[in-house]
Amino acid sequence: MADDDIFSVRPEIAASAHADAARYEEMYNASVADPEAFWAEHGKRLDWIKPYTKVKNTSYDYHNVSIKWFEDGTLNVCANCVDRHLKDRAHQTAIIWESDDPGVSQHITYQELYEQVSKFGNVLHSLGVKKGDRVILYLPMIPAAAYAMLACARIGAIHSIVFAGFSPDALADRINDCGAKLVVTADEAPRGGRATPLKANVDKALARCGSDVRCLVVRRTGGAVPMTEGRDVWYHDEVERVSDHCAPVEMSAEDPLFILYTSGSTGKPKGVLHTSGGYLLYASMTHQYVFDYQEGDIYWCTADVGWVTGHSYIVYGPLANGATTLMFEGVPTYPDAGRFWEVCAKHKVNIFYTAPTAIRALMGQGEEFVAKHDLSSLRILGSVGEPINPEAWRWYHRVVGRENCPIVDTWWQTETGGILITPLPGAIALKPGSATRPFFGVQPCVLNDRGEEITETACEGVLAIKDSWPGQMRTVYGDHDRFVSTYFEMFKGYYFSGDGCRRDKDGYYWITGRVDDVINVSGHRMGTAEVESALVAHPKVSEAAVVGFPHDIKGQGIYCYVTLMSGEEPSDELRTELRNWVRKEIGPIASPDVIQWAPGLPKTRSGKIMRRILRKIAENDFGALGDTSTLADPSVVDNLIENRAVK
Ligand code: PRX
Repeated sequence: MADDDIFSVRPEIAASAHADAARYEEMYNASVADPEAFWAEHGKRLDWIKPYTKVKNTSYDYHNVSIKWFEDGTLNVCANCVDRHLKDRAHQTAIIWESDDPGVSQHITYQELYEQVSKFGNVLHSLGVKKGDRVILYLPMIPAAAYAMLACARIGAIHSIVFAGFSPDALADRINDCGAKLVVTADEAPRGGRATPLKANVDKALARCGSDVRCLVVRRTGGAVPMTEGRDVWYHDEVERVSDHCAPVEMSAEDPLFILYTSGSTGKPKGVLHTSGGYLLYASMTHQYVFDYQEGDIYWCTADVGWVTGHSYIVYGPLANGATTLMFEGVPTYPDAGRFWEVCAKHKVNIFYTAPTAIRALMGQGEEFVAKHDLSSLRILGSVGEPINPEAWRWYHRVVGRENCPIVDTWWQTETGGILITPLPGAIALKPGSATRPFFGVQPCVLNDRGEEITETACEGVLAIKDSWPGQMRTVYGDHDRFVSTYFEMFKGYYFSGDGCRRDKDGYYWITGRVDDVINVSGHRMGTAEVESALVAHPKVSEAAVVGFPHDIKGQGIYCYVTLMSGEEPSDELRTELRNWVRKEIGPIASPDVIQWAPGLPKTRSGKIMRRILRKIAENDFGALGDTSTLADPSVVDNLIENRAVK
């Protein structure tokens, strides 16, 4: 039984860890018994300009949701990640950059980081960016992405990164939603030997935005790109004109640091807003404890800065801790399926943090790609983004970790800012597939359908959190009502995660996946409604319903039921056309895996699509369709089963 499949804490890890089992219990108990005192103490890990006197001021009351931490303190996030390290570690590497091309890498010291970020801040200033302005970053995984983030933080601008795989339309929506005045991009983004035309995408996006939005272009590949006079400028030209001194702006702990768009159950992505003090404290503390980060470690998180994992665990958390963080531009399978392991060996990586989808993909390529490389530097492995299946966990543990690296399976979300449920490597025994126990200050609970907290230890239901932690999102940018209705309405008095979970007899949490209409494709979160609205925007489509289905590599695949306009004929060409259409509307990550023609969709008599049935058909689970008697036309279901796209 999986619940009894336990890997105990390794004594050599516990001996030097920031927390062993006893210390974890002691700190956890203190953190929930008196959060004020606990966080007042740990808040000191940051450098404050004006120290806080108030620590926690949070309310989950549905009528008055408000989250503030350290509200009267002031600080600068960039100064905490860069300037304060100059005294002791100016010549230590802050960022190791590994390019898409395996022959090219670069070490950037804290001193160089300071200079680059200061200059970047001045370039932003020279383009008129001021405190509180929004800046969109649409960049490859290059050091300039980190410089731009930190430069925004330095001058008090709010960055919003758009993953470079998103389409021009998706980019335009985000520029418009947050009212950005500047987009920072690059000529092209090389990945896996191919180049994405970022600047050309920005040109298409800006055609849908106000004429006052400007564009700053970083040269990456040197590919020719058209520049629009008066709107677009090259970074390398602007930087010639600025000084290398840029004073960090004093910010309130509750001033916004960044907005990051993420998918929900409705069509429009939400701008998740994170603020400065609580976020940075939480990112830095989790980075230290969860990965048991030790002075001198080389730490690598393989995420992209376009996702929250890149924000908290490539840039902000590690740099706040004065760590050496590796930034990788490429993909795990280029030039071959050994690239991750080659990079680990080349840079002597000690802590490695990746996603289950990457592990599953590499597992399928065979062990020889791992065996070729010397992985003896690895000490801690991490997993994030989706539930890790025990088979992939075991492979990761045995083949990559040689059975002596603990795996931290970290559960969290864009909204949570940092890791909430996770083992600490020196403290908590592991069970393959379980995110195990809560981090300090986090009070998870399992609710039944009526919103009641289940008190038995072993149980199953939805995962909610009882009280606030410093890294929690503060609002949906420009739409506080949406923040309240999404996270605090359904289960009053709790933060509702949108995930289902099981708690076993040992109090370990097992995340079972989303309970809303959000799917997780290769660790990328996607609203099924977003894909549906892209499909129905096609002139030949009359209706569409999208659900997830189990996929060996991606975790979940995208299964689309499509009803065509009358007179339109289904064909393989149309299938390809629709697939390309969705890629254009949202981006390649939303590319449908399966399109099934549906003459009709199962609907209740009031016209509501019964997604439960569509999910079962996509999962090939026809025996468990449940009650279909409330359907307006039950024969629709037989037709869908008969014509299921993949038998
Ligand atoms: O369903 C959970 C899943 O990813 C969702 C959050 O997605 P996103 O906001 O894009 O952030 C991903 C990176 C933090 C969650 O609601 N998820 C994330 N980590 C895990 C996970 N599911 C199971 N186990 C995890 N370790």
